Amino acid sequence: MFEGRVAIVTGGTRGIGAAITRMLCENGASVAAGYSRGKESAERFRDTMAAGGAKMSIHQGRVDETDDCNRVFKEVIDEFGRVDYLVNNAGITIDKTVRKMTVDDWRQVLNVNLSGAFQMTKSVLEHMIERGSGRIVMISSVIGETGNVGQANYAASKAGLFGLVKSLALEMAQRGITVNTVAPGFIATEMVEAIPEAALAKVIEKIPQRRLGKPEEVARVVRFLLEDEASYITGAVYNVNGGLDM
Ligand SMILES: NC(=O)c1ccc[n+]([C@@H]2O[C@H](COP(=O)([O-])OP(=O)(O)OC[C@H]3O[C@@H](n4cnc5c(N)ncnc54)[C@H](OP(=O)(O)O)[C@@H]3O)[C@@H](O)[C@H]2O)c1
Repeated sequence: MFEGRVAIVTGGTRGIGAAITRMLCENGASVAAGYSRGKESAERFRDTMAAGGAKMSIHQGRVDETDDCNRVFKEVIDEFGRVDYLVNNAGITIDKTVRKMTVDDWRQVLNVNLSGAFQMTKSVLEHMIERGSGRIVMISSVIGETGNVGQANYAASKAGLFGLVKSLALEMAQRGITVNTVAPGFIATEMVEAIPEAALAKVIEKIPQRRLGKPEEVARVVRFLLEDEASYITGAVYNVNGGLDM
């Protein structure tokens, strides 16, 4: 399906990002998976994938650092010669109520989740414009739609992505580049495993399907949006949340 195509997946060696990387490789793409601090686990993931025949590379870089984004883009061009798909998946949480949240807690989350997606997009955009084609997918969150106690910074960053996507989709509409958002609900990854057990049980009670989602269930929607046949879909939000918000 994606033979000859090249994708960058930020945060692509763990959790939802790893599922997206795996899905892309299984469908024939070459994938440059980004990571920030998890060098050892990124290397392990790459080695396992390579043993299975995947064409993938890993790239250290912080999405909240402009120079890192530009360097990672250059590394990918040097290695694969082109970029067809960008999946802005890297994200963090620093959960506290607004009363306890410091300005630094606020800035860190906004810098990675929102400004990071902006900066990585800036790094690849001119290349996509020159080629007259490209697909950009942002991984937002149901929390960006509903808000959540203790997650004002995270909710604001994920809501911000909706505005970024819609504006960029308009700007790119006549340039062969689609820009869309996938908004997962609660998905079984390390990010959700960090929620205390009792609190997680309460979350699951509120999910109409009464279970967490799987990273692969998010990756399938990303695959759909990257397919050639999805060419008329832009500026859209796809929820993958078991009915938690509709
Ligand atoms: N899990 C959920 O329930 C859920 C729900 C809705 C939305 N999401 C969103 O889905 C995305 C992936 O979530 P996940 O659950 O898979 O999270 P995760 O397991 O915690 O993985 C986060 C990924 O982001 C990378 N990352 C963190 N800070 C970075 C930075 N400054 N620069 C570059 N990469 C950075 C991490 O790299 P390192 O490994 O090197 O640290 C890691 O690969 C996030 O945007 C998250 O907000 C998750």
